[in-house]
Amino acid sequence: MQKGIENINKFTSIMLDVKNEALAQIVDAGNINELEELKIAYLGRNGKLTTLIKKIKDLSISEKKQAGGLINEVKNTILDALATQKNTLKESARDWFDASIPGKKPTIGHLHLITQAIREISSTFEKIGFVRVRYPEVEWDWYAFESLNIPRDHPARDDWETFFIDTPPHSKYGLMVLTPHTSSGQVREMMRVKKPPIRMLNIAKNYRRQSDVSHVPMFHQFEGLVIDEGISVAHLKGTLDYFARNFFGKDRKTRLRPHHFQFTEPSFEVDISCGVCKGNGCKLCKEGWLELGGAGMVHPNVLKNGKIDPNKYTGFAFGWGVERTFMMKAGLEIGDIRLLYSPDLKFLRQF
Ligand code: DAH
Repeated sequence: MQKGIENINKFTSIMLDVKNEALAQIVDAGNINELEELKIAYLGRNGKLTTLIKKIKDLSISEKKQAGGLINEVKNTILDALATQKNTLKESARDWFDASIPGKKPTIGHLHLITQAIREISSTFEKIGFVRVRYPEVEWDWYAFESLNIPRDHPARDDWETFFIDTPPHSKYGLMVLTPHTSSGQVREMMRVKKPPIRMLNIAKNYRRQSDVSHVPMFHQFEGLVIDEGISVAHLKGTLDYFARNFFGKDRKTRLRPHHFQFTEPSFEVDISCGVCKGNGCKLCKEGWLELGGAGMVHPNVLKNGKIDPNKYTGFAFGWGVERTFMMKAGLEIGDIRLLYSPDLKFLRQF
């Protein structure tokens, strides 16, 4: 390589050439092996830098000192460059992209099963002309109870275990409550529409003081209300059977059992034929029927409270729990219904 080193200037210039050449090659190195080879080529026993260092014997003493400083600097620069390039190569090895490896699927959520149920219930009833409405969740006592023929001191009021809002009572509407059932939409709907026909579907959140494996303090109901001239129990039965066939399955039907509600007369409990034994009786249903919820012919007092003439119009109503109805459809047996409203994704992802 270098023939002789006449003076420090010449030495410095050669050193810098070697340094630049080394740095250019290091940056170009495509893998770790090439880097190892370059390290040997410059810093190894017979490396370019090592050979050059041996030549400083030709320099004067003061120049030797100067040369020593330069040697250290060049050597460290080359070592740093080697280390940096090594890291760069390692990084890019990590980023290496193999298009043949199956990709990671992004997690995709889905509607909560109660939202799915609400949509399905709505579309089933919308097909036969029901119109979905919404009424306040924070409601007056009057709409929730009094207008439904349940006077303030009536023992039936205990059944609803209502949450009361801590505000002074309204002179006509009484206390404020969290609506305990969707029936509170009945009189509101009569007042909104004013003149029948009415075909209401009110699906809403309801609140009651209850929490155990089969009850949650917030749950959902769907309430049907149909009012027109000449509406009879036959229309109610036809509507319920339509729902049973279309929501639960072609071979399902309903049965009405006499019951009592303040706001309907006559009142019924609605049962649906068991999907497992088709009404013959089995372990799931015992007698062939499963209980869905309440229904009845709208009480004349309720029509009057909604400013509808009970001598001209009649109507039917029904009100059932969304959670219960959906679980019955899916054949789900959820040990603890509170899980539906827990953030437990392991549970929720199943549906
Ligand atoms: N509101 C009642 C409840 O929450 C259910 C109900 C019964 C609704 C009979 C109705 C009905 O519309 O006619 O238990």
